[in-house]
Amino acid sequence: MISSNVVLLSLLAVTVTCEDLDFPPGFQFGAASAAYQVEGAWNVSDKSENIWDRLVRDKPELIADRSTGDVACDSYHLWRRDVEMTADLGLHFYRISIAWTRLLPNGFANKISEDGLNYYNNVIDGLLEKGIQPMVTLYHWDLPQSLQDLGGWTNPLIVNWFGNYARIAFSLFGDRVKTWITINEPLIMCDVPYNTGSMAPAIVNPDVGAHLCAKNVLMAHAKAWRIYDKEFRPKYHGELSLANHLIWYEPFTPEDEEITETAREYMAGRYSHPIYSKEGGWPPVIEKIMAENSKAKGYSESNLPAFTKEEIEFVRGTFDFYAVNHYTSRLIRRAKEGEEFGAFPLSDVPDVGAKYEINPDWKPTTSSWFFVYPEGLRNQIVWLREQYGDMKFIVTENGYARLKGLDDTDRIEYYTEYLKQVLRAIKEDGVNITGYTTWSLMDNFEWGDGYNSRFGLYEVDFTSPERTRTPKASAEFYKKLIQRHSLNVD
Ligand SMILES: *[C@@H]1O[C@H](CO)[C@@H](O)[C@H](O)[C@H]1NC(C)=O
Ligand SMILES: *[C@@H]1O[C@H](CO)[C@@H](O)[C@H](O)[C@H]1NC(C)=O
Repeated sequence: MISSNVVLLSLLAVTVTCEDLDFPPGFQFGAASAAYQVEGAWNVSDKSENIWDRLVRDKPELIADRSTGDVACDSYHLWRRDVEMTADLGLHFYRISIAWTRLLPNGFANKISEDGLNYYNNVIDGLLEKGIQPMVTLYHWDLPQSLQDLGGWTNPLIVNWFGNYARIAFSLFGDRVKTWITINEPLIMCDVPYNTGSMAPAIVNPDVGAHLCAKNVLMAHAKAWRIYDKEFRPKYHGELSLANHLIWYEPFTPEDEEITETAREYMAGRYSHPIYSKEGGWPPVIEKIMAENSKAKGYSESNLPAFTKEEIEFVRGTFDFYAVNHYTSRLIRRAKEGEEFGAFPLSDVPDVGAKYEINPDWKPTTSSWFFVYPEGLRNQIVWLREQYGDMKFIVTENGYARLKGLDDTDRIEYYTEYLKQVLRAIKEDGVNITGYTTWSLMDNFEWGDGYNSRFGLYEVDFTSPERTRTPKASAEFYKKLIQRHSLNVD
């Protein structure tokens, strides 16, 4: 009796495993890129300088191979080939970003570039002709230098500047673009530059700068969402969110559970609680810690800028889905007495007194910050659902860094394992994940890693004037996966 039950159970398990590899009907697959990383054409027409154009000239030592995005994949001229690739893959959507300085050379709303407008119209229309939905990010880190000179993301006036830019983009493209990402990864655009100086605008000011940026980014996102909601949603019926970069934290030892949860609030909560929680505002535990830390450092007010009651209401609820960018995880433990901290977010979490460790079983990649732990994606999304309740989730970035080469079976393995975790979150945890986006469609300018670290489904030959694009093994895999709507691709 027992043994026949065991046989039956294992048969069931086999059946369930097979079924589990199919994606739910309607699940959408896409790929992503970002303006500065692919477009090139940094100084054509009336496009003005952005903070990355400036950084790669002023501080070339911050880029591993001292390269720039001046030409990158030259998508500004080769966008037809990009569209052809998205069609070859059979993507449901392609995520691009708009370069603020290409559309509004002054940074402000008083001048729209005709060439910039034509370029984005071409890409959007080209995709739609092939039946591929454009998903458009308004801000992927390439702030107009003219606005940086006025304080950039640390100046609260940027809330209006960004709102005005967003309104123009909605009015120009909203008839055709139905999914918008307002701002990409506050964590990387605020915490990295102001804590480490390794990304634009590379202003090291960890106590104050990163937190000013964080608050203004949340307010700017909310401004754009509210403009869309009031002025455009009634006629265009689109959806908007902010995309968060989430590094999943697990406790190093069972005793580290509490500090790990606090670190999660610092990592994910600061950029989520104000928007997605019922009560809005900063996560209370972080507000308290930051007030204590600031006092201990002798400041007269908290370095975490307070939200007024009106601001809390302004930001709260400004989403149509949760956009998850995820790559990697960390183990978290309480710092020992006198232990020094590395900078947040890719290293430690000094504000909460946490150090990080890497599980030796997590495979390293060519990006120093990036270790492979597929379960992290599922655990992170389930945590978000527990914190903020049921909502729609879209994985807006996930991908794998390696060196050049077409035979990227390790990337196929990465996608397979992370997508299995997406399926488990959907089927076992009941999380409503409706789409998945690979980073990236093609190799591109990978910020501080230059062209060394390759994330693409397509290889790009950066030595050829044509920037020849060649599908890697992973492109064939992704194409088959989309066709079958299943991880059962053999
Ligand atoms: C644009 O930048 C390139 C270097 O990337 C330079 O050779 C060229 O002269 C510049 N063109 C203009 C119009 O400034
Ligand atoms: C998931 O969310 C979408 C969009 O809000 C909705 O149409 C769909 O019914 C949801 N699915 C589940 C299983 O809740």
